[in-house]
Amino acid sequence: MQRIGVLTSGGDAPGMNSCIRAVVRKAIYHGMEVIGIKRGYSGFIDADMGPMNLGSVADIIHRGGTILHTARSQRFQTKEGRAQAMENVRRFGIQGLVVIGGDGSFTGASIFHQEHGIPVVGVPGTIDNDISGTDYTIGFDTALNNVVDAINKIRDTATSHERTFVIEVMGRNSGNIALAAGLAGGAESILVPEILFNIEDICHKLLSGHKRGKLHSIILVAEGAASGLTIGQQIKDLTGFDTKVTILGHLQRGGIPSAFDRILAARLGAKAVELLMAGDSGKMVGVRSGEVVASDLQEILGKPCPINDEMYQLAKILSI
Ligand code: F6P
Repeated sequence: MQRIGVLTSGGDAPGMNSCIRAVVRKAIYHGMEVIGIKRGYSGFIDADMGPMNLGSVADIIHRGGTILHTARSQRFQTKEGRAQAMENVRRFGIQGLVVIGGDGSFTGASIFHQEHGIPVVGVPGTIDNDISGTDYTIGFDTALNNVVDAINKIRDTATSHERTFVIEVMGRNSGNIALAAGLAGGAESILVPEILFNIEDICHKLLSGHKRGKLHSIILVAEGAASGLTIGQQIKDLTGFDTKVTILGHLQRGGIPSAFDRILAARLGAKAVELLMAGDSGKMVGVRSGEVVASDLQEILGKPCPINDEMYQLAKILSI
């Protein structure tokens, strides 16, 4: 393989730049050329791409976001859009593709691979940690630390004013960010889409805690479970407590990637290049029990990625 393409797609995630750097440098190390494709599949279709060199990825290892920019492309979901992208594959002499993104991006990559036969390897990059086939996705650890940092700050006000705080976090249909942040941040209740909750039970717990002298509480709500605003209003109505709501939003996705995410990104990016060099295709790289592994895209796509029940039960016990 002489020339590969690399793109980032879907929501940006901290560590994507570290991954681009790994892909570019590993490929160049092995004598290959790299084409950087801008704005995900949009740039792929519009031929918004060009050669990258060692210098293109200098000084990006510690930067959040993605230097290649990203997008969610509707056009790539059409046969015509993918055919246009294939035209550009021929025009730019791309022989293999590394797609850094989430589940939606991999669905596109898999269809493209099946339709046009171009070798494709996916690297999981999303803060949601909702992809089967890997214990961690690039960006999750940084986002988690961003949320825990916010909880620490909110705690100061919660304690000082003796308030109940509802904090809504991202994660799309996954409760992984909420669960991990809730456990790390000592939340009283964690609402995740994977587990049914009852607002009366939550309020009952708050009220009995209050009777015991607990004067402030933090409730973490995954955006896929409920709206933080609704939960906040319901708690106020049912308990009469001074309840505030904070929606962390895109603050969670930004900032300097953690060392964990950078190391993960470097290992996964390099492995993706190795797979392409070995003639592998239709794969996703991941990390399982500390080891870098590869799975068939077909096997992991759309597969549920359950939350860790042991962690959920533990969070309940510790927040008694
Ligand atoms: O997939 C990452 C993510 O941040 C989700 O947690 C969230 O639901 C979504 O992207 C937000 O997307 P956007 O940035 O397009 O509003």
